[in-house]
Amino acid sequence: MRLIIVSNRLPLNGVQKEGKLKFEQSAGGLVSGLSAYLDLMKSTSTQDIEYVWIGWPGITVQDKMQTDVKRVLKDLNASPVFLSAEAMDKFYLGFCNKIIWPLFHYFPSYTDYDKDYWHQYREVNKIFRDAVLEVIQPGDVIWVHDYHLMLLPGLLREELPHTPIGFFLHIPFPSYELYRLLPSEWGQEILHGLLGANLIGFHTHEYAQYFLRSVLRILGYKHKLGQILAQDHAVKVETFPMGIDYERYHSNPASSGFGQNMKELEQLLDGFKAVLSVDRLDYSKGISNRLQGYKLFLENNPQWCEQVVLLMIVVPSRVGVKHYQQMKRQIDELVGEINGRFGTLNWTPIIYQYKFLPLNALLAMYRQSDVALITPLRDGMNLIAKEYVAARLDQTGVLILSEMAGAAKELGEALIINPNNLEAIAGALQQALTMPEAEQKKRNEVMQQQLKRYDVVRWSGDFIQELLQVQKGQSQTLPLDRHQQTLHTFFHQADKRLLLLDYDGTLVPFTDSPDQAKPDKELLDLLQNLTETNTEVVIISGRDRAILETWLGSLNITLVAEHGAWLKRPGEPWSLRKPLVNTWKRNLMPILEMYADRLPGSFIEEKEFSLAWHFRQANPELSAACARELMDELVAFTSNINIHILQGNKVIEIRNSEVTKGSTGLYLALKDNYDIILAIGDDTTDEDLFAVLALEHSWPGVLPPKTFTIRVGTDKSQASYFLPDYMEVRKMLQGLTSETAQLKTIQESTSDGR
Ligand code: UDP
Ligand code: G6P
Repeated sequence: MRLIIVSNRLPLNGVQKEGKLKFEQSAGGLVSGLSAYLDLMKSTSTQDIEYVWIGWPGITVQDKMQTDVKRVLKDLNASPVFLSAEAMDKFYLGFCNKIIWPLFHYFPSYTDYDKDYWHQYREVNKIFRDAVLEVIQPGDVIWVHDYHLMLLPGLLREELPHTPIGFFLHIPFPSYELYRLLPSEWGQEILHGLLGANLIGFHTHEYAQYFLRSVLRILGYKHKLGQILAQDHAVKVETFPMGIDYERYHSNPASSGFGQNMKELEQLLDGFKAVLSVDRLDYSKGISNRLQGYKLFLENNPQWCEQVVLLMIVVPSRVGVKHYQQMKRQIDELVGEINGRFGTLNWTPIIYQYKFLPLNALLAMYRQSDVALITPLRDGMNLIAKEYVAARLDQTGVLILSEMAGAAKELGEALIINPNNLEAIAGALQQALTMPEAEQKKRNEVMQQQLKRYDVVRWSGDFIQELLQVQKGQSQTLPLDRHQQTLHTFFHQADKRLLLLDYDGTLVPFTDSPDQAKPDKELLDLLQNLTETNTEVVIISGRDRAILETWLGSLNITLVAEHGAWLKRPGEPWSLRKPLVNTWKRNLMPILEMYADRLPGSFIEEKEFSLAWHFRQANPELSAACARELMDELVAFTSNINIHILQGNKVIEIRNSEVTKGSTGLYLALKDNYDIILAIGDDTTDEDLFAVLALEHSWPGVLPPKTFTIRVGTDKSQASYFLPDYMEVRKMLQGLTSETAQLKTIQESTSDGR
């Protein structure tokens, strides 16, 4: 597998020095996180990991230089996308950083909805598409990053329908109320663009939820456990909080420069407590709030004057955007004011540097600072917070972190503050500077464990693994939408039709308790109408025969209970498909009872030839763990008896393995000369049926030439098609009955008139 990483910025930034073009490390969490992952993979695998990073090289390169730059970067696994100064102006400074960045960071008044920016954004996304198409090879996996390239997954999907495409957003996704401020065509096109991916990742659960809500409100696509059915493929939306390369910060770098950095800082800070502040210069980072909070702290606590210094590193960023320039001026003024007002001949309260620091220097800062003060007004994740905690070798040090940073969701042992509350910042500084060492260590130990466990390799590994799984799971099964017409045509042309329908989740929604899923009038009418169109209707369910008969016995349809064990044709009594034993039930019952007692809200359903443990109403986290454990126990316990254990939708079922929906379905399919068979189901048990009906392909002539298998939902399936939910199933069946009824009336009136 080769990974194609696509982001606006390459990890290397071109700079002109003494008339020569040189490449230096770029700033920002996206680059630092992904580079750390790739470096780690290179150093731990026996072979170089295969990847290509496509992106802008950070500078406008003249045409005549482009071939040379390409060659130099190729050796560094980078493939540059050259963009003119004008394109960068409208795309990067314009659409990305004057519209999306401020809007997604809750600064709607900083936006400038210029339509030229939008046109350029679309154009540049197409340029990136072409750059990907130039390097793509069979078997590659594409991973697109961040808000600059939100149209790219959709553009790539049109060209590469079967390639796994992942997208990760490194900034917050805003609430619907903010998102809808985008002109509606832009907002729609961006959502469609993102939905071109198979997997969309966000740093926090909230961002993922906000995205799903905007998709629902704007495009009308519902989701089921984060899965959306978008036009012709399923898209998974999930949370992957980005981690750091823990060991890089938790060990000493080999280079001698680091020792020097440590010594210099130690001398500088001798006799002072140090509070560290590091950010790109950005209004979202809350730098001026931080300075105001520090000022208030000095006002409230004069005893700390000449005892503490604020080490403030501000990294130049997006200097071409007006609000960044204003921010810079504001910071310069505030630093001047605080230093002027509180400083003495022996003490400068704020040591301020406006530059990018390489790892050695930054790590020395983390190691030498007693407190890290990180106060963004809104931040996708904030890796600095994580790096500071990881860097504390002796586990001392206090992290003060804004609740508006994605990282606050994971670093709960930090002193969490609201950055708009200056008193809270001042108070947290006071608390941090006086916190006993034992407490510092206790808090950091918990956070370090967390950071170590969920590091950057785990983050990217989880993402890529999930991407491959989602893509694999949906490659076979197509959405019925586009094929509905074919189904209608075959259905109407057929003289004899067989309809095999699962019940729960297929014709009715799931309910808290199984006995609430009674058929409504609409469903009963629908089934009745179907039987009147020369169609044999079979309900093939895991339910027991008593309930099926009570609910559906009055209709002219065939009923199959307990996953194929019992069969009842209209007007006939129930018959067992084959002799079965159920003595195993009494051995397994005590195990199920133990789990039912352990998990409040779960209960056992006993049928003649099967047992089911339902946990729809139980605590989801607890039930997931219990279900895994029970499956494991049952599989081990029953290895030498003829029973089948399956996990359905919030239920574990145990049944005889001699009969399945597959064997009974096949039996019914071969009973008559049907011209068409349509089977619909939503569960693992229906997969047996889909599998036998697929025999049509391997044994032509045995089954009718036309079989349609449809899975409800987007889980991996052997069915040929899928539909999103039971309502769509009903709509589709309704369409079949009404058209067939119309045709029948036309045929009858033509033959009457003849
Ligand atoms: N960084 C750096 N040198 C600096 C300042 C920051 O290398 O002088 C790195 C830092 O180690 C971190 C990243 O830049 O990995 C900043 O990421 P973060 O998520 O905190 O903020 P972003 O800039 O992405 O908004
Ligand atoms: C944030 C964004 C990145 C971006 C970085 C630096 O981390 O999520 O996509 O690369 O800031 O910003 P810049 O505009 O210099 O690329």
